[in-house]
Amino acid sequence: MIIARTIDELQEAKNTLLGSIGFVPTMGALHEGHLSLIRKAREENENLIVSIFVNPTQFLDGEDLDKYPRKDEADIKICQLASVDILFMPAISQMYERDELCIGAPMISGYVLEGASRPGHFDGMLQVVMKLLNLSGATKAYFGKKDAQQLALIMQMVRDYFLDVEIVPCDIVRESSGLALSSRNVYLSTEEKIRALALSKSLQKATNLIISGELDSAQIKAEMVEILSVVDEVEYVAIVDRTFNEIDKVEIGNSMILVAAWVGKPRLIDNIWV
Ligand code: PAF
Repeated sequence: MIIARTIDELQEAKNTLLGSIGFVPTMGALHEGHLSLIRKAREENENLIVSIFVNPTQFLDGEDLDKYPRKDEADIKICQLASVDILFMPAISQMYERDELCIGAPMISGYVLEGASRPGHFDGMLQVVMKLLNLSGATKAYFGKKDAQQLALIMQMVRDYFLDVEIVPCDIVRESSGLALSSRNVYLSTEEKIRALALSKSLQKATNLIISGELDSAQIKAEMVEILSVVDEVEYVAIVDRTFNEIDKVEIGNSMILVAAWVGKPRLIDNIWV
């Protein structure tokens, strides 16, 4: 595995590759969720590039940029074991100039839910993903469904800017308890981890209600909020269509149920696609 820390090193390493390139962008602190993307990308492509870059422009003032978990040594080992061809780990100075051209998230779907809680987050996320996709020269790039709105916006950016890359959505990976894997789970104490299960339990409840024929969004959300009463703060519970418009009735095959909540230090998100 080649570790490229500069754009030049990345370009040089890419020159040695022949054939399709699968790309998995990450912010490091790799866990089974990332590994499932890496394994899928490994299977589906001749070459595999992974990036680890904690992107400052997608963190808002007061968010956990400085405290974001960094585990470079372990991450490098994981990538080696997963047969990654190139691991791109740039410094911030490699990725950003002082006066940058900016990409803006769409004014509606970029500013609801996660975009409303974290205004500006998606601008920075799209900016770095555009850079990383271009730098990687990827044929296919892999993103988790856990960040459902991020995934939808990246797919839109690829469409709107005619980028020549296929975005591959990948399923959420969960602990056996149901907790969706996240780099931020390391901040949870044992007691908080138990309370954090309310997120996946509320989504499971929603699934059961839908299976039993309940499609009314208000009713489903009310039952979810009851289960979520054990978390410290519920930021949102939303039932939306695949373009992130809130809907009054679940449309099977075209809906997502999303939840964001604070448990102790971390803000957690989870969702199901119905
Ligand atoms: O999902 C993430 O880890 C990040 O938002 C991404 C896509 C790597 C961009 O920094």
